[in-house]
Formats: sequence, structure tokens, C-alpha cells
Amino acid sequence: MSRIFGSVSTSAGQAATAGTNPTPAFLPTREQLHTPVTAENLPNAEDPTAVLTEQSAPRVESSHLPESNGRHWMPDSSRLLFLNNTGKYVAAIEQFRSVRSRLWQIRQRQPFSKILVSSARPREGRTFVSANLAHALVRQKGKRVLLVDGDLRNPTLHTYLGASREPGLSNYLAANVNSSEIVQNGSIRDLSFIPGGAPSSDAAELLSNGRLEELLKACGDYDWIVVDSPSLATVCDASILSDSCDGVLLVVEAARTSVELVERAQHEFAKPILGVVLNRLNGTANNGQTKTTA
Ligand SMILES: Nc1ncnc2c1ncn2[C@@H]1O[C@H](COP(=O)(O)OP(=O)(O)O)[C@@H](O)[C@H]1O
Ligand SMILES: [Mg+2]
Repeated sequence: MSRIFGSVSTSAGQAATAGTNPTPAFLPTREQLHTPVTAENLPNAEDPTAVLTEQSAPRVESSHLPESNGRHWMPDSSRLLFLNNTGKYVAAIEQFRSVRSRLWQIRQRQPFSKILVSSARPREGRTFVSANLAHALVRQKGKRVLLVDGDLRNPTLHTYLGASREPGLSNYLAANVNSSEIVQNGSIRDLSFIPGGAPSSDAAELLSNGRLEELLKACGDYDWIVVDSPSLATVCDASILSDSCDGVLLVVEAARTSVELVERAQHEFAKPILGVVLNRLNGTANNGQTKTTA
């Protein structure tokens, strides 16, 4: 079992017992605080009986967004691992498949579709995980996935797809465009994408104005919705975004982020923690060009 696999299942258990105010069972003892999270000390108390509560993972209504606008993408195969045929990323690809399997297992117990990807600190790999997870999910035949860039202050998800940044979510939330203008379809079959749009310093206001909720409600026909977000370090945007999602996938950079910070991060969300992705297990550099371990 991979560390990601174990983490996701553990967190599902926590979601079950925690309701809308999750207090995950893998939280550290006081002695563990200040210790960076590693593959070894990531707690792994899998609970096979775990289920998500109805309240914390509501069913999505059946509806859909208007036709998308058919833009061209030039996906970046050095960062979208499933497109990379050098064989360098086989192990990392397998980890993303494991996360996908665990999400399906959780979903068998309780329906949910909207996943917020977040982290305690900047540059832990949220965007990397969002893009590759969405790609892993959409590779399953007949499954439609919507990938949303919710990092309105520093949108970068479009660079993975080689897509345009605007018009996007910030423009829609500011009521400058309608939903059909921001949804892109490109060269990855069954994957739709909403870019971040023009960078906004007003992100918290925009995300709280009710239009996001409306937009995601109109996306009921997607099998999965993956929402990227800013880190929790400086702004509350991720916490606001979680209100419109069903659960949170927390990205933790191995050997760098302290257990204390992860513990605090988990309390920032109104929705359950679905799992933890321990990223850069081999301590790779931040440029993403060498070793990859998700
Ligand atoms: N596991 C990984 N292997 C290789 N590169 C990675 C990995 N995780 C992240 N990166 C790279 O590190 C950089 C920062 O990651 P990113 O996802 O943008 O961080 P965040 O969104 O959390 O700020 C990006 O260039 C990304 O491609
Ligand atoms: Mg990012």
C-alpha cells in the first residue's frame, strides 16, 4: 500500500466520525508536533468501516453547464505525468492511480464529487496534484471531469494544460462573463477546465458572493470536480472554497511541512478531509523537472 493510499483511507475514517468539524484520528501526539511529516511518521490508522456523513458530503443535483467553447490546449507533458512517455514517472503515475482508487472506495460508501485540493504552505504541490489527479480520474472510460482553478490570486493551472488563463473564474465571479464563456474543452477527452481568470486581490470577496456555489451546482453532470486553491498560509480563500465542495484533499510536502501546521490546516475547513497526499517523498527540488514522487 502506498503512503498516499493509506493516507486517503485514514482520512475517510476521520471524516466519518468528525461530521462537519473534522478532527482526524491521525492527528499527532504533542511530542510529534514540530516534527516534519515524513512517510514514516504519517499516521496510518485505517478504518475499514469508515463512511462519510450525509451532511458533510451532499449529493449533487443533476444539471449541467452550457456548451463549452472548444479552445486549443498544448498540455505540458513534463508536468502532466500521464502524457509523459519517457517512463520516468511510472511510480508517480501509480500513486495517482492509488489516490483515484481510494476516492472511488470512499464514494461507494457515500456520494460526493467536488474535491478541494489544498495545503498549509505555498508550493507544496497543490496545482501539480490537482492537474494530475483530474487527469487520472478522466482516464477512466466514460467519466467526465471538471478541473477548476480556484487560486484567483495566482492562477497557474492553465500552464499545465497549455490553456488560456482568461476569461476564467474571477471574471465570472465579478459578473463580467457568463458560465458558458469560462468553460474550456481541449485535447484531453472528457476533461473540462475553468481557468482562474484575471488575477484578483479581491479573491475572498469574489468567492463569497454566491456565484461560485451557483456555478458548481450547475455542474452536476460531471463525475468529478477538482478545485485547486491557494495555500492556507496567508489567505482564507481555500477555507471559503471548501464551503462549495464536498471534501478536501490535503497536499503535504514530505519532510518539510510540520505536523503542527498540518494539524492546524485541517481545522480550517468546514468539510471533511478526504485524504492526504504526501508529496515529494524523495525531497525533489521545486522545479519539478527531476524526480517525481506524489
Ligand atoms: N511531486 C512533484 N514532482 C515534481 N515536481 C513537482 C512535484 N510537486 C510539485 N512539483 C512542481 O513544483 C512546483 C510547485 O508546485 P505547485 O503545484 O505549483 O505548488 P502549489 O500549487 O502548492 O503552490 C511546480 O513547478 C510543480 O510542477
Ligand atoms: Mg498552485
